[in-house]
Amino acid sequence: MRADIEHSDPYNGLRSAETTLPARSYWDEAEYRRDLEAIWYRNWMMLCREADIAQPQAYRVFTIGTQQVLVIRDESGILRAFHNTCRHRGSQLCRENEGRLKSRLLTCPYHAWSYSLRGELVRIPSKTLPAGFDKADYPLYPVAISLWRGFVFVNLTEDAAGSAAESFDPGSGDLTNWPLEELATGHVLRKVLNCNWKVFWENFNECLHCPGVHKNLSHLVPIYGRGLMARHDDPDWALHADNDAPEFAGGLRAGAETWSEDGRVHGPVFGSLTEAERAAGQTYAMHLPSMFIVGHVDYVRTVRLMPLGPEQTELTAEWLFPADALTSEGANLENIVDFGARVLEEDAAACELNQKGLHSLRHQAGVLMPEEYELHRFHQWVGGQHAAHDVTSISADSAR
Ligand code: FES
Ligand SMILES: [Fe+2]
Repeated sequence: MRADIEHSDPYNGLRSAETTLPARSYWDEAEYRRDLEAIWYRNWMMLCREADIAQPQAYRVFTIGTQQVLVIRDESGILRAFHNTCRHRGSQLCRENEGRLKSRLLTCPYHAWSYSLRGELVRIPSKTLPAGFDKADYPLYPVAISLWRGFVFVNLTEDAAGSAAESFDPGSGDLTNWPLEELATGHVLRKVLNCNWKVFWENFNECLHCPGVHKNLSHLVPIYGRGLMARHDDPDWALHADNDAPEFAGGLRAGAETWSEDGRVHGPVFGSLTEAERAAGQTYAMHLPSMFIVGHVDYVRTVRLMPLGPEQTELTAEWLFPADALTSEGANLENIVDFGARVLEEDAAACELNQKGLHSLRHQAGVLMPEEYELHRFHQWVGGQHAAHDVTSISADSAR
């Protein structure tokens, strides 16, 4: 996976038996609300591509836990985000999940208060207004928006700080050399996973399950077939320090170029990648809690998560290609999509299996093996988020 790793790097594995998060944090309603308030409503979240809301007056509505965010492109082409809630008595504003407004006004379906696409309240149908009432005091509730390389992120915190670009996981690979802005969506896979959102990330963060769960992927990426993600996950890495075979160094099996059914690319590879980036086979970047993105030599794949409930998570995977690949007759995109879709289905089944077992009255918490060092880091991140955003009422709730 990381062919460029230095030989002097230490062993990655955990040295002590760390416990997982408490089992109830994966199914308990109060724990779920705590995750929403401390994590989902306070971090930058990826919603879609800018190109998904391309036309002026086009909009999409996204559900994040109990919240709905309306993202709309105003008449001057600027993307704006608001809570999908009217300032009058709180009705839902847009009933459809996507569409294009017929006018430059957003009109509440309940009593027809109308807002400009910048969020200003401009029209109220009442015959007269109460004394002292000023429309300027009732704009739509704004939501912070941050654009990163063709992706739209929002943050529900009122005084959101930073940007999407600054909040990638520090262990993320660098995708600077992938032309993300220029890519177009070639395929979308939507799926509701019957598992807590954290179960998905835990599964993402280890390859101990790869030999048993992902036969084809383990064949394509030989180090995964050993249950490892990188050279230094092996306690005996020093014995093979000079061995560049992919089962030790990472990267794809001999002869394979990309993640696809037969290992072949769909067409031209990205000319902007370094030799090391081409050799790596896959470069991951993680943006908790909502997204990971993986760059291959000829395409990019994104996976977006949204929590729907304590034991339900919506997954949206997108395959992004150079725009001309989508119209070129010779490009065999199925060869690529089928491979990745199978890996996702295998992971989804593993996550649902994990979720089912977590309800045991006897199971208070699990224990991590050395290869699961990234899960430990994820658990520490979750704990840090809870601690940083003291959600007192909810914590008191969950302590009962
Ligand atoms: S709730 Fe929107 S106009 Fe009344
Ligand atoms: Fe997996």
